[in-house]
Amino acid sequence: MAGIRWPPEDAEVSHARVPTTADLISDDDRSVAADSWSIKSDYGSTLDDEQRHVDASDALSTGTFRAASDYSSDKEAPDAEVEPSMLGLQSYWDATYADELANFHEHGHAGEVWFGVEVMEIVASWTKNLCIDVVQGCVRNLVDGVGSQSSEQGAYDFSGWSVLDVGTGNGLLLRELAKQGFSDLTGIDYSEGAIGLARSLADRDGLTNMNFLVDDVLETKLEKQFQLVMDKGTLDAIGLHPDGPIKRMSYWDSVSRLVAPGGILVVTSCNSTKDELVQEVENFNQRRLTGSQNPEIPKDQEACRDLTFRYINHVRSYPTFMFGGSEGSRVSTVAFLRS
Ligand SMILES: C[S@@+](CC[C@H](N)C(=O)[O-])C[C@H]1O[C@@H](n2cnc3c(N)ncnc32)[C@H](O)[C@@H]1O
Repeated sequence: MAGIRWPPEDAEVSHARVPTTADLISDDDRSVAADSWSIKSDYGSTLDDEQRHVDASDALSTGTFRAASDYSSDKEAPDAEVEPSMLGLQSYWDATYADELANFHEHGHAGEVWFGVEVMEIVASWTKNLCIDVVQGCVRNLVDGVGSQSSEQGAYDFSGWSVLDVGTGNGLLLRELAKQGFSDLTGIDYSEGAIGLARSLADRDGLTNMNFLVDDVLETKLEKQFQLVMDKGTLDAIGLHPDGPIKRMSYWDSVSRLVAPGGILVVTSCNSTKDELVQEVENFNQRRLTGSQNPEIPKDQEACRDLTFRYINHVRSYPTFMFGGSEGSRVSTVAFLRS
């Protein structure tokens, strides 16, 4: 099984330079930016592919190394300075997926598994168990209107759950969720190439229950709401836009409308710790609250006042590694329940 390929022991991680938007000039520059460590995919990458791709744990996390406890503890973690990078630009993703689509047609490769296969598998199985906990009432505020019944084998029927993956890329996370029993699966991405790749892969493998749409999550055209919304690496990418802080705020506004009342949002990030994500959600809730006290809010937006999230759980089982004398991890997965 392949996963994140960590930097060599003697590399100076904290000083690793991340390509910035100023560096985004040409395909050549993109290739240069991609020559650092790479995430390797079990779904078929050649060595060349690996070298062409930017390492998620490097580029998305902007070279910040933090202790494993930061990614999973309840303690306050300092905000990392996030420098804008080409990964925040749609042009980067369009060019990347154009390559990946060509690679798929030529070699049948599925492309990158961001954060590695192991993380993707953990996210999917952990999410399934979380949904079961929510339905069973182990987590307060049961998901409204979601049917989930135990079969004789103790397996749950998730056919009533609609699932949305924002910034789905090649759609492999949805495939992993399908293995866990989810069947109403939608993936959106603002890059046409990503959706082309995701559709091609699903068609090739006869996965007819997956729906893929070109859609910018910040200006979504989706009118439907979903019981489960997944994000793996998309908020990270959005935060790397030159207007990252503003775009992150608009992300929460948008996503909160996509999660059904009582539904679950699961965010996987290598750029924010669990505490930072929880804090970001608290800030979002606070903005909502402040907005709701504003008598000038138009009547048709009143429903939005109740859109808040509550932290419910996070993954505690990600592999950690020793680096420079401290134990590190670079991924956090946090779940929130919508009011
Ligand atoms: C790091 S990749 C992760 C892809 C996929 N979620 C995965 O885990 O393999 C970030 C993805 O977010 C998509 N993306 C970034 N900003 C977006 C936006 N505003 N709306 C929709 N998709 C976006 C990119 O095109 C890219 O596919």
